[in-house]
Amino acid sequence: MHDRVHVFDTTLRDGEQSPGCSMNLEEKVRMARQLEQLRVDVLEAGFPIASAGDFEAVRIIAKTIEHCTVAALARAVKADIDRAWDAIQYAKKPRIHTFIATSDIHLTHKLKKTKVQVLNDVAWAVKYATSFCEDVEFSCEDASRSDIEFLCEVISAAIEAGAKIINLPDTVGYAVPEEYGKMFQTVKTRVAGIESVLLSAHCHNDLGLAVANSLAAVHGGARQVECTVNGIGERAGNASLEELVMAIKTRGEKLGVFTNVNTEEIYKSSKLLSSLTGMLVQRNKSIVGANAFAHEAGIHQDGLLKSPITYEIMTPQSVGIRHSTLVLGKHSGRHALKQRYVELGYDLPPQELERAYQVFCSIADQKKEIFDEDLIAIVEDRVGDVDDFYQLESIQVSSGTNVKPTATIELRLGDQRLVDSATGDGPVDAAYKAIERITGVVGKLTEYSIKSVSLGRDAIGEVFVRAEFDGVLFNGRAVSTDVITGSAKAYLEALNRSLVAKKRKSEQPREEIKEASVAI
Ligand code: KIV
Ligand code: ZN
Repeated sequence: MHDRVHVFDTTLRDGEQSPGCSMNLEEKVRMARQLEQLRVDVLEAGFPIASAGDFEAVRIIAKTIEHCTVAALARAVKADIDRAWDAIQYAKKPRIHTFIATSDIHLTHKLKKTKVQVLNDVAWAVKYATSFCEDVEFSCEDASRSDIEFLCEVISAAIEAGAKIINLPDTVGYAVPEEYGKMFQTVKTRVAGIESVLLSAHCHNDLGLAVANSLAAVHGGARQVECTVNGIGERAGNASLEELVMAIKTRGEKLGVFTNVNTEEIYKSSKLLSSLTGMLVQRNKSIVGANAFAHEAGIHQDGLLKSPITYEIMTPQSVGIRHSTLVLGKHSGRHALKQRYVELGYDLPPQELERAYQVFCSIADQKKEIFDEDLIAIVEDRVGDVDDFYQLESIQVSSGTNVKPTATIELRLGDQRLVDSATGDGPVDAAYKAIERITGVVGKLTEYSIKSVSLGRDAIGEVFVRAEFDGVLFNGRAVSTDVITGSAKAYLEALNRSLVAKKRKSEQPREEIKEASVAI
């Protein structure tokens, strides 16, 4: 008999809280919508007590999402649970996810609590959470390093208090598959009432074992797996959603389980997350890396041509990768563009289609062949749409072996046109200095990357920057056939974001701004 494994996505909570992965409100909502398309069962939207921004994101996502359960994280204390409920109360299917550490290491060094105190906290917190909502998940943080006797006592207390899901994380990525799977088996045999709850695995990837450990947990009886798109998360990340889901799909017969995930949305979800955070996946990453389905060796290519099953255990189409066929060029019209976007899985509203068409036309003027990857880059160029304060009107640069790099930039701010020039160490530096002179906003560039989106010397370049303004980091991304123009646009996007954030902050009531600093 095949059992369903529930997929609990924590990209927006455990994933987003890791360095380099932060998203603003619009970006989180956009990602949440995509996760709904992906048909995850549960979407953990954030940790509402952590900051006013987190609270607001969870609240808006809870109101937006129709089909998935929306979870909010809370430590096992009243203030956290109250805040979590305030944020998710309007969700169609809300879940409070409360947790406390159970290992001796955490009890002694972090919580400074006795086992009896922790047991009391668990019983109280779960009961309190059930007073708001039926669907309560309880996590034993650092479960894999906890004393199994105590772990069983804690789980009993949580079940008695009304928890419906018991999650046993490998918080520090220390477990190996055999022992992690055995922990689930032991709990299943020792804890009374365990059959009435869903057991859940939550693995970190410090030893590169997160997916293997999650599968071992499934073998041991877990029927929920917690994971993130592209495996983003604390330190080395969490179990990767695409790897887990495709392992279950490809080896379902062997594992005896299935998920409800729409695997054809995997590639799009991975791409979207990369473009929102600037965190790109390595080329050889399983499932979503650029080489994941590329067969180079002659012997493999020969086998594939004879029969795909010789070397292909799953098809690129099954994860939503369409073959990059050359489709459109300068003479293609709006209708052809719309049609191709529909085939690529993007149902663009008229305004967005028109914008994409304008960008498409300007790119088609400079580039003969437009590939699917280019089209995706065009729509995703505006995913984190900011109210543009400054827009790039024109840019002119001169640089070379014996010339001081100089950039002249014209920006538009409402009705005003602003022009200035600057010199720099290179053309990009000169452009950024000219932007700084015009806007008066000084930023510190902390990351800059550029890659080509499709094939050929005239390929579109995708520029990603991260810059610090007033001590806060902002991302910017842009695509262009001209790398200097793309660099200027990406930097402007980050700068505009900082201005939007500043404006929002000044509009917020004082209490909302106060951020609770919370460490897990
Ligand atoms: O890794 C962990 O233990 C967690 C819990 C808060 C669920 O993320
Ligand atoms: Zn975690």
